[in-house]
Amino acid sequence: MRGRATAYFLLNLASALLFLSYADDTLTPSQLLGDDDVDGGRGNLISTGGMFELGFFSPKGSSNRYIGIWYHNISDNATKVWVANGGNPVPNRSGRLRVTADGTLVLTDGNSTVVWSSGNGSTVAVNAIARLLDDGNLVVKDGSDNTVWQSFDFPTDTILPGMKMGWNRTSGHNISLRAWTNESDPTPGNFVMGMDLNGAPQELVWNNMVPFWRLGPWNGQYMGGAPEVISENLMDYTFVVNSQMFVYWYTLRDPSVIGRITLNSAGQIEVWAWRDETQSWIRQTFFPRDLCDYLNSPSSCGPYSLCSPTVSPICACLEGFRPKNQRNWDLRVWSDGCVRKTELDDSRTDTVGFFRLRNAKLPDTSRATVDWSMTNLDDCKALCLKNRSCMAYARANVIGSGSGCIIWTHELIDIKFYNSGFGQELYLKLAARDIPSQSADSRRRRVVLIVLVLLSAAFVLTCVGGFIWYTKRRNTREDGLTIDEGKELLELDLPLLDFSKIVDATNNFSTSNILGEGGFGLVYKGNLGEDEEIAVKRLSKTSTQGVDEFKNEVMLIAKLQHRNLVRLLGCCIQGGERILVYEYMPNGSLDSFLFDKTKSTLLDWQTRYDIIIGIARGLLYLHHDSRFKIIHRDLKASNILLDKGMNPKISDFGMARIFGSDQIEVNTRRVVGTYGYMSPEYAIDGIISVKSDVFSFGVLILEIISGIRSKRTYYSESQINLLGYAWKLWQAGEVLKLVDEALGTSFPADEVLSCIKMGLLCVQEQPGDRPTMPIIVKMLGSESAFIPDPKQPGFFSLKAHMDSDSSAKKSSRNNVSITLLDGR
Ligand SMILES: *[C@@H]1O[C@H](CO)[C@@H](O)[C@H](O)[C@H]1NC(C)=O
Ligand SMILES: *[C@@H]1O[C@H](CO)[C@@H](O)[C@H](O)[C@H]1NC(C)=O
Ligand SMILES: *[C@@H]1O[C@H](CO)[C@@H](O)[C@H](O)[C@H]1NC(C)=O
Repeated sequence: MRGRATAYFLLNLASALLFLSYADDTLTPSQLLGDDDVDGGRGNLISTGGMFELGFFSPKGSSNRYIGIWYHNISDNATKVWVANGGNPVPNRSGRLRVTADGTLVLTDGNSTVVWSSGNGSTVAVNAIARLLDDGNLVVKDGSDNTVWQSFDFPTDTILPGMKMGWNRTSGHNISLRAWTNESDPTPGNFVMGMDLNGAPQELVWNNMVPFWRLGPWNGQYMGGAPEVISENLMDYTFVVNSQMFVYWYTLRDPSVIGRITLNSAGQIEVWAWRDETQSWIRQTFFPRDLCDYLNSPSSCGPYSLCSPTVSPICACLEGFRPKNQRNWDLRVWSDGCVRKTELDDSRTDTVGFFRLRNAKLPDTSRATVDWSMTNLDDCKALCLKNRSCMAYARANVIGSGSGCIIWTHELIDIKFYNSGFGQELYLKLAARDIPSQSADSRRRRVVLIVLVLLSAAFVLTCVGGFIWYTKRRNTREDGLTIDEGKELLELDLPLLDFSKIVDATNNFSTSNILGEGGFGLVYKGNLGEDEEIAVKRLSKTSTQGVDEFKNEVMLIAKLQHRNLVRLLGCCIQGGERILVYEYMPNGSLDSFLFDKTKSTLLDWQTRYDIIIGIARGLLYLHHDSRFKIIHRDLKASNILLDKGMNPKISDFGMARIFGSDQIEVNTRRVVGTYGYMSPEYAIDGIISVKSDVFSFGVLILEIISGIRSKRTYYSESQINLLGYAWKLWQAGEVLKLVDEALGTSFPADEVLSCIKMGLLCVQEQPGDRPTMPIIVKMLGSESAFIPDPKQPGFFSLKAHMDSDSSAKKSSRNNVSITLLDGR
């Protein structure tokens, strides 16, 4: 005993001399790790290689004290890979950490109350010590070097390389992750990631115990719902399935790389790598990544359907199935799912067959049965054929020629299609007549087919041209969805926010927080604490068209960043909710100033001019400078928001369209937008191009200068609108009469004149006559630019879109009698 203690002392002395410091990796029962400079206290534990450090910390924005582990040898020490007392902080710096000789770590506060402890009192080690290892594992070892406790068995929100996750049947321990409540609160939050042991074991993320997304079963290479991890080339995954355990871990392919996997407080799993060059963490990949990944969300496809994130609509019935409720399905309410076209005839096996669905994420396995030992797929097929309730089968392991067998005897749910080549084969049991003829095996039929093919070749060739033309049109047709919607969604790098957080921020969507109504739902003001104000747009649950607009907006605006576009901070798709969170614009929308008698006096000429320029720059970015060519389609004063400094930001991208870079214009069957701002070719013929946005911008310029709503203004004698009014004044050579009375006479006439002229140029009848945004920005920004004379505007007489509101009241301005209708 004494000899051992002496040896230990000498060892400590030696290491102290070696590192010329008291910091080491071991806490002994005689030591005390105090948060303050307590008598006899020691410094933080630092692992031998210097990789990790253990000590007290406060999360960002909190004064609570926690015991945690973080990286020691990189410049980021804010990232905590483990927290001991997540739910039980020490309120001040009185915390002390000890290890008892019988092997229990104990954290006490200033009153000597135990705040956290590693054991339940059953540990009976002798001469225990605690040591922080270089892999980030805090272990408690007894005198014979046996591990009696380790932090790797009780992770918080981080999986470190080598850490074993999953189910150890010997110990009965199912190791799972639990996300922090939020960045500054390590209290265990709503999201848990762990192994679901029902049916064929699969990894799941739960939100408040409700399945949130499914990583799926291990297939030998990856978990079915997260195939993208294998293309990262960062980590190697190992999964051990045997009678003792169901355990997985990863190692870093390049040991010099620092990497970690975390579960964030919005339920996302993120894979991170430290980049030395930038001294920062780079997110390599994350899940869930698209609408098809969420369970129990409004976008979830129901039973027996297939979700394809790159196709619109995303849900389709599986081969051999049809919508259970066609009406709901057409309305894109997919929760009812699909039913068989032809019921299976149980009495005769020759009337059933299997359809091979490729590139699938295997359906939910929580009620499936797995046999890992089966080597022949035909045996699996036979098993499924034999069992009446079998719906489908698949290989459990895809390595090599495959092995194992999963059969589903309950509803098939949560099947996703990977068009990127990931996923595996799923064999669906169908009535033979529902199986497409691709599997027809008759040789004679094949010969007939070949002849037919030859005969039709010429015909096909003539059709191809037309078909290409048709699909090209089809791809960009209709309802505001984008050309390659899914692809964009996949690349989205948008924070997912927790619904409960948004509920808190908006006082449970209190009516007193309502800011207004956006394209597809109400907009609320919210506060995320610390005065971080946000605007929250909540998709109304009754809106079906809104679903598309929501997706459209998320996809578009998440990709865009410009000082004149409103910034999207995050979104929330959770439990029937679809919510977008934006930066808050304290000054509201432009129309609330422009068309208000008192507030309009706050808009002096310089402010109005800056607003015009700002909108022009935002539009220039959309049309030409962003990664895509984007047509907003619904530019109007109420969609221009003003920040604290009255800088304009374009908002509401629900109707926006992405154009191919070579695409000039497109024809749409659904004309959306706001009368009074729409160009004639769009309103009448449904033709959209950048020039239709330019038209709306022209209307905006004239509104900003005149303070008159474009659609609510009429001459008394001949009913014409703002454009007609401006045009008349222009022709009469007295266009400065258009200027808002609120401006008085304090404005530079030449600048105002240029702007009016520009406005009139933008609203010319012929799209080809209207300038493009680069020219507009250039001309507006230069005092000496030559601005040509405008031709007649489109829509200058607007009987068709006249508002026949009877509450019209008369007012007289600039010697012209105008009827203004009450704005509603
Ligand atoms: C110690 O106990 C007192 C009385 O119960 C309490 O007010 C105080 O906050 C405690 N201090 C700490 C550090 O927990
Ligand atoms: C499973 O638990 C037993 C008993 O606690 C332990 O000996 C074994 O090492 C564990 N296996 C794994 C893979 O962690
Ligand atoms: C079909 O398989 C399931 C799952 O293995 C099993 O519970 C059920 O009893 C089987 N039914 C028949 C009719 O064999």
